[in-house]
Amino acid sequence: MNIHPFFDPQTATISYVVADPVTHACAIVDSVLDYDPVRGRVSTHSADHIIEYVRAQGYHVEWILETHVHADHLTAAAYLKKKLGGKIGIGNHTAEVLRHWVPIFNTAHDTPLDGSQFDHLFADGETFKIGALTAAVLSTPGHTPACVSYHIGDAVFVGDTLLMPDYGTARTDFPGGDAHIMYHSIRRLLTLPDDTRMFTCHDYPPEGRVPAWESTASEQGTQNILINEKVTEEVYVAERERRDRGKPAPHLLLLPLQVNLRAGEFGTPENNGVRYIKIPITAP
Ligand SMILES: [Fe+2]
Repeated sequence: MNIHPFFDPQTATISYVVADPVTHACAIVDSVLDYDPVRGRVSTHSADHIIEYVRAQGYHVEWILETHVHADHLTAAAYLKKKLGGKIGIGNHTAEVLRHWVPIFNTAHDTPLDGSQFDHLFADGETFKIGALTAAVLSTPGHTPACVSYHIGDAVFVGDTLLMPDYGTARTDFPGGDAHIMYHSIRRLLTLPDDTRMFTCHDYPPEGRVPAWESTASEQGTQNILINEKVTEEVYVAERERRDRGKPAPHLLLLPLQVNLRAGEFGTPENNGVRYIKIPITAP
């Protein structure tokens, strides 16, 4: 199995191309569209880099996978699908995330609540193929209610559920997030064989360390500063909630969400032909 990471320094996101070296089938995990929210401009520089790589390797894309509906970057899933083909997949609890956010944005006319804008909604335990590789879906909620991890060969793509051991885990204070639930999701990931390679979706390195994205189940189980094997649920939840308290929302939050809820589409243009990202206002 070939795994090629792509690090986006602007959003600290790591996207992956996972390929079967025999059939040249591949999947793209957690892609990024470059977005300048001040100018309202999107560019495809990062996604084009992935496209060039896929073409240079002679891969064909079978799946474009999302570990969850991201709140800190725009997914390039729809763009990649147009350019490379493949099916867009995400966890089936995404319907809960849609039911929470779509009424807030009032975008039901172009953002189906049933998740049909995605090609496939994966259930926990479901398996699928990437060429001759078998991938299994593990439901790992906590950061959001719909987070999934993709277990492919000896690797697992954990999204934001586990970050690098010296950082810990992602926050659990978004709507539907829950530190107790995340604790059990992580415990589940830590039951995978010790040498399972874990690939995270983000890295926020401390000063002096270069960005990194790969660890093993055993490293996480022994070294994760928030949730190694010795940490009880009670201690983890207290520390996670302490860290999340008063933490500012990601500066993009509302902007990427409504695009990512459409699997990366920008929605129906208004009568002037322009598509908008909306920001709901609470005002007296
Ligand atoms: Fe996230």
